[in-house]
Amino acid sequence: MPRKVIIDCDPGIDDAVALTMALFDPRLDVVAVTAVAGNVSPEQATINVQAIVEQLDPPRYPRFGAASAPDHAPYVDARHLHGADGLGNAGLAVSQHARQHPSEKLICDEIRAAPGEVTLVCLGPLTNLARALARDPDLLSLVGRVVIMGGSAKCVGNVTACAEFNIYCDPASARTVFRSPTTKTVIPLDVTDQVVWSLDLLKQLPDDTTRAGRLLGKILPHLFRSFRQELGLERIDLPDAVAIAAMLQPELFQTTELAGDVETSGDLTLGATIFDRRPNSLQRADIEVALEVDASAVADCILRCLAEAGRQT
Ligand code: RIB
Ligand code: CA
Repeated sequence: MPRKVIIDCDPGIDDAVALTMALFDPRLDVVAVTAVAGNVSPEQATINVQAIVEQLDPPRYPRFGAASAPDHAPYVDARHLHGADGLGNAGLAVSQHARQHPSEKLICDEIRAAPGEVTLVCLGPLTNLARALARDPDLLSLVGRVVIMGGSAKCVGNVTACAEFNIYCDPASARTVFRSPTTKTVIPLDVTDQVVWSLDLLKQLPDDTTRAGRLLGKILPHLFRSFRQELGLERIDLPDAVAIAAMLQPELFQTTELAGDVETSGDLTLGATIFDRRPNSLQRADIEVALEVDASAVADCILRCLAEAGRQT
């Protein structure tokens, strides 16, 4: 029986790769894709979610959630990496959709519609999840599982010296989620940074006779260019794709239950994730943090998922 999944994301090129994996995996039933501001503005993220799904045209369309701007968060985006439109300036067509529900409402509705059955995968800032918890305080007792790409445990940040982008974009919402009384799985930079791709990836994608191949072939070259021009790196990483792999093949990751929290006020440390690894910690260790990964097996998992998307498109 496929697992019901909501994917909350801020497309973003790696978000698009993650969606391509999830929408065609027979183990998953993506019931909703909810947009959140992060890599791009809320309006652009909302457009991009639709554009990606329409380009892929999966056998079953998910419901779409519309993003809105976070409250009191530092405005930051990642267009320098993902392009002005967030998708490598690919100029994907998107149809005009009727007004969509707000992402946080859709998250609440879909989880309530299938208590205990839904996995919520957060691939962007945690604005929507925090708002959903405020909207429906019982939500955590109804959601099946929460998987979050975000934070860093022992390694450095990627948007500041000590903060990872998704957390930094909305630290208050991240703190709300981290402090919520339920087990969360966090896939931090410590493991996503280990799954890196050379230009050879472009030869391993589905070919351009497939919709998946055409989408990936349009957006991924941009990421290679921007990683070289902006970061001086001859390789890319795809954190959100790693998070989908963690949901599909958790055995490839070593996790540790830790207490965790988010810095919401430091000048230098805003958005840092703090995990208490002391043996005698008195804090509630309810965050399952992935600290080790079989990087080559995860890369194989991602490539298999993309090949399957090619076969179906
Ligand atoms: O730090 C990486 C995360 O930030 C990824 O989700 C990427 O898409 C951006 O949202
Ligand atoms: Ca993302």
